[in-house]
Amino acid sequence: MSHMHFTADKFSVQPTKYSKRLLQVTLTKEVIDDFLKQVEKYPVQALEYKSFLRFRIAEILNRLCGNKLKDFLQEALSDRQTGALLINPQGIERVEQGDEMVKIATAFVHLIGRSNFDSMTGKFYARWAVVNTDNSDSYLRQPQKPLELHNDGTYVNEITDYVLMYKIDEQNMQGGDSQLLHIDDWEELDKFYNHYLAKRVMRWSAPPSKNVTVDAYHPVFEADSSAQPVMLYIDQFAQPKDYEEGTYLADMGDSLERSKGKISFPVPIGQFLLINNLFWLHGRDKFQPHPELRRELMRQRGYFSFGTNPFSRYKNFHNV
Ligand SMILES: [Fe+2]
Repeated sequence: MSHMHFTADKFSVQPTKYSKRLLQVTLTKEVIDDFLKQVEKYPVQALEYKSFLRFRIAEILNRLCGNKLKDFLQEALSDRQTGALLINPQGIERVEQGDEMVKIATAFVHLIGRSNFDSMTGKFYARWAVVNTDNSDSYLRQPQKPLELHNDGTYVNEITDYVLMYKIDEQNMQGGDSQLLHIDDWEELDKFYNHYLAKRVMRWSAPPSKNVTVDAYHPVFEADSSAQPVMLYIDQFAQPKDYEEGTYLADMGDSLERSKGKISFPVPIGQFLLINNLFWLHGRDKFQPHPELRRELMRQRGYFSFGTNPFSRYKNFHNV
């Protein structure tokens, strides 16, 4: 593939040591500094209030990358062989630069689509901290529990083609690696995809903290436009209606977790993952408890403007 070892003077691309499917994208400090200077007049609040400005800053970043970043992102994220990027905008690594990180992330994803309303925060992105103790109602903020492999967008009615996860801060952290599984690397994909329950519409609903009160209905599997399997699955929010659905989903959860195709790696502070949510599952390993533990993350999730998401027949476009 042409982009596998793509190098330009503004940004470079190469496979990571974790998987040839996961590409490391590095933007030079010069490009990032220029970008932040040019978007200084757009504070994060302006991006929240005027959604078209998210596209304006995307345009600025693309121009600084020789008008090549947009095409590269579309090609890499829709390529089934890869579809996962670990992005390093050089020189932005301190938690005080969180707003700059929001701008960088926003520019990236608005070259390829648009981020959905995030019900947890009421914005087009979410930032939150994980600390040593938490009493929340899902595993998102709970450090002592792993977050098992899943897709995002399972319990909402918005199309979720991409997921972006930014590591804003990390202190006193041991463990907590990011985990990814490309579904073509899952040994038992065929068994579950060819099962009679694979395309049965099931119910998905979230706990109160997610601020989503309407259930979603869709199957675990669909076929994309090339007749390849794609998934929309999460262990915590599936609501199987009976024994058959329940045991099928429980078997699937076990099978995913024991897959040898799962990769596990740290995302350094100031870097972010941007993945195709249709054929990649993601999760997070547990961390060692520590009284001073702190981790801050940002996410954005949304649809590709070029997307043909087969789950969209169950979902709507809905943005703020
Ligand atoms: Fe997730």
